[in-house]
Amino acid sequence: MKHTDHNTITKLPDLEYTPQLALEMKPYYQKVKSVIPEFEWPIHAPYVKAINELKKERNAVLLVHNYQTPEIYHCVADFVGDSLALSKEAARTDADIIVQCGVHFMAETSKILNPDKIVLSPDLDAGCSLAESITAEDVRNLKLKYPGVPVVTYVNTSAEVKAESDICCTSGNAKRVVESLGVNRVIFIPDRYLAQNIAKETHIDIITWDNGCCEVHELFTPEDLIEARENEDNLKIIAHPECPPNVVEEADFSGSTARMIEWVTENKPEKVMMVTECSMSDNISAENPEVEFIRPCNLCPHMKKITLPKILNNLLYLNNEVKVDPKVSEKAFHAVDRMIKLDIS
Ligand code: 13P
Ligand code: SF4
Repeated sequence: MKHTDHNTITKLPDLEYTPQLALEMKPYYQKVKSVIPEFEWPIHAPYVKAINELKKERNAVLLVHNYQTPEIYHCVADFVGDSLALSKEAARTDADIIVQCGVHFMAETSKILNPDKIVLSPDLDAGCSLAESITAEDVRNLKLKYPGVPVVTYVNTSAEVKAESDICCTSGNAKRVVESLGVNRVIFIPDRYLAQNIAKETHIDIITWDNGCCEVHELFTPEDLIEARENEDNLKIIAHPECPPNVVEEADFSGSTARMIEWVTENKPEKVMMVTECSMSDNISAENPEVEFIRPCNLCPHMKKITLPKILNNLLYLNNEVKVDPKVSEKAFHAVDRMIKLDIS
């Protein structure tokens, strides 16, 4: 049922954990019981019920990044995925409201792709060290310094930066995007490690932006991986390409968060270490009980700002609406849409 009046909700949800609610929510707990202790579930369960009911009433869709905590990822998401999958889903959704459970640049990307829809963020302060590392003026200066060289921009950037770019990319399609342009030189912003990792896989000359890196992935060192291999027999290590190149070199596989999940699901290693944000191991171990996860734990403080109570507030009050200046949005749309079109071609 389409709920047309976005300001009205039928009644405030009851957030008490009763025996009846416990029974009703049991199937959800089954999905997360290996990663959420029993004593913690009564805190989450009333929110899970309320959010799932309200999102139907609002005709809202919850797009959830792979780094969200298990009660969000497994219990209230409509779609889970990496940045690329979420932006593709945002482009095709027919929901009236998008609740973006991830960081701000992800919500902005959804708004750019859906200027007429309501896009909400559970916490507008959920930023990203990469997005904060570069401004639109920085990009204009780069273009002056390297005239005619196309700008490939990682989606972990503001709408203003995307608006100055020729095409966007994610970690899932960066090499393909760089090679699609038919040139021998590109400016790749802002993640210097992702740029260096891609440069190793292609003959295209890549100009990097030296100020950008992910505050979570830059903390991993090759020594962490070497030590883990020494301590654990038959350990497979997979790393996100936002890690420094010498870390990626020590890994058995590197790919976007979605590719890392696929790798575990397809290869079913006896033991695996996911060199990325903590919640990934929780989310994926809940679905792969036969795989042992060795957990190096680096939390993204921005991703962790998203919680069930804040998601419920979005659905109740339609607060924290994400706005993008229409002129900026129109320009940024071309860069994002060009990436999506390339990706589905
Ligand atoms: P993915 O596109 O691989 O999900 O990465 C997004 C991100 O922010 C990783 O830190
Ligand atoms: Fe940004 Fe790194 Fe957090 Fe991803 S993990 S949102 S790149 S700070």
